[in-house]
Amino acid sequence: MLPVGIDQISFYTSNYYLDLRTLATEQQTDPDKYYVGIGQEKMGMAAHDEDIVTMAANAAAPLFKDTESKKISTLMFATETGIDQSKSAGVYVHRLLDLDENCRVVELKQACYSATAAVQMACALVARQPETSVLVIASDIAKYELDTPGEATQGCGAVALLIKANPRILTIDPHVGNYTEDVMDFWRPNYRKTALVDGKYSTKIYLKSLKKSWEHFSQASSLSFSDFSYFCYHLPFSKMAQKAHRHLAKVNKSELETEVIDNQIQGSLLYNKLMGNSYAAALFIGFTSLIENKSEDLCGKKIGFFSYGSGCVAEFFSGSLVEGYQQHLFTQKHQSMLDAREEINYQRYLELYNTPDPKNGETVEIAEDTTGLFRLSAIANHKREYIAR
Ligand code: CAA
Repeated sequence: MLPVGIDQISFYTSNYYLDLRTLATEQQTDPDKYYVGIGQEKMGMAAHDEDIVTMAANAAAPLFKDTESKKISTLMFATETGIDQSKSAGVYVHRLLDLDENCRVVELKQACYSATAAVQMACALVARQPETSVLVIASDIAKYELDTPGEATQGCGAVALLIKANPRILTIDPHVGNYTEDVMDFWRPNYRKTALVDGKYSTKIYLKSLKKSWEHFSQASSLSFSDFSYFCYHLPFSKMAQKAHRHLAKVNKSELETEVIDNQIQGSLLYNKLMGNSYAAALFIGFTSLIENKSEDLCGKKIGFFSYGSGCVAEFFSGSLVEGYQQHLFTQKHQSMLDAREEINYQRYLELYNTPDPKNGETVEIAEDTTGLFRLSAIANHKREYIAR
């Protein structure tokens, strides 16, 4: 069977951020609760003319510089920040990116897990038709009520992955471990803009799901904990991954020093600390962070991935980095994007938090604000209008 996996990976986040020190000052909280306690420094805030569609198109646009977009047979859009109960957000992206009219488009939802489901389904499609490519995009805006414990873990981002045969970045292994349980740790009913969360319970369920999916993975795969060089976790906040990875090491009775254990995830946390939670996109932005920030050649190294979506569905899967992967990354572009972002004050944060939301079909023109390639220009007659800048 031909190897299948990630051929290219690109992400995007908004050009505004709130430093969590600003939030801490406003809340009269010690900033170390955020910087040390949850391991987060900044959170991305989307401009009013940005949403999951524009972020997704921005993330995917760089992939087509050296790829024939007409070969994309399917676009899978993973999100839990849906903008429509019926139409897939991916259809707007299909137009903005000028994809082929014969490309199939679908949206997937299972909290932060859905991008992993999309990647696995994409691998299966490509295995059947190795001459085709599948574009997987995950795009989300993490939003909680003001003055709740979740507020400091907000953020936004989109990641686009091109799944192909003979991939140039990561070969994904066929064996996986899954775990599903009907729980209410984090959810967002259709009538709400913000998520509801049982915070402490959600962290416990995350750890339980990790153990369960690892056990299932261990039955299916011949790989053991010591075969992995690095690990990438779903990242609601970076301390969650650190706790989870120490937990997995303990489950496996690893004798590695704590410092070595922590180093196995360190590289994957860097972008998330600066962007905040990006839900379905977070795991794969974490993977990008790992491979773009490790100076050593990771070619041939085994990477473990833990994907978690509240509610809950979890998956442990694995992959190996391909020789020469460094030549196919967008490291400079990503790091310049993060460096060029503008810090906002608390007042501006509140303005951005209150996104335009006309409910009666009235027209709202949205001022140009984002520095991205695509923007939401208006909402009129119950329709969202997107344009390229
Ligand atoms: N200096 C250093 N550390 C400090 C500190 C200080 N001054 N003050 C507090 N801390 C530490 C605490 O000791 C704690 O560390 P431990 O967890 O290691 O004990 C940490 O900072 C957080 O403090 P609290 O437990 O008091 O924080 P909280 O209860 O106010 O909020 C949270 C924590 C419940 C996780 C909250 O951020 C939340 O609800 N987040 C949203 C839900 C979430 O992200 N859940 C993760 C699993 S679910 C998932 O992964 C899906 C998803 O994307 C949402």
